[in-house]
Amino acid sequence: MLSADPLLTAEQIAQRVEELAARITADSRRLAPGEPIHAICTLNGAVLFFADLIRALDLPVTIDFVTLSSYGAATSSSGQVRTLRELTHPIAQRHVLVVEDIVDTGHTLVRLRETLSAQQPRSLRVVSLLSKPSRREVAVDPDYLGFSIEDHFVVGYGLDVDQRFRNLPDIRVWSPDHA
Ligand code: PRP
Repeated sequence: MLSADPLLTAEQIAQRVEELAARITADSRRLAPGEPIHAICTLNGAVLFFADLIRALDLPVTIDFVTLSSYGAATSSSGQVRTLRELTHPIAQRHVLVVEDIVDTGHTLVRLRETLSAQQPRSLRVVSLLSKPSRREVAVDPDYLGFSIEDHFVVGYGLDVDQRFRNLPDIRVWSPDHA
């Protein structure tokens, strides 16, 4: 069942997205003046964050999508990261910004960084809306982070349990009915 109160309200999320976008815009102007940022959405969970973030970037932006899966229908990461949908555009020589919804064990982010670095982008940065540092199994952190949270199972604003609740406008804690 869902927590009655949001862990993060839609207003808190919106404010943090604006702050992240302002930082990324400023950094990108220094790093790559006048050049587009190639934003990669890691489907499915990052879809709402991605849509809000790229609209708040005051930069030329191109986009692409990749689908990775580490959870399947389970509520904890399997550690086995599978690519279900590949990128459709080459990233060589581009300034890449990977947009993630959550870094949990870190396996997905490590795999993404390895795979994308091998394709020789001009630069590679990662922004994640959420991070659960207490769950990390590999040492990795995003370059930009929205919120660091405790080890709750969270849903909403793109995050799911078994594909449910992705459309909630806020982020709530989910627990099994029998818990
Ligand atoms: C989630 C999330 C991250 C990953 C983080 O994806 O979107 O990509 O898990 O977990 P990790 O740090 O333990 O690797 P998931 O596999 O649930 O797919 P989804 O985005 O389609 O929900």
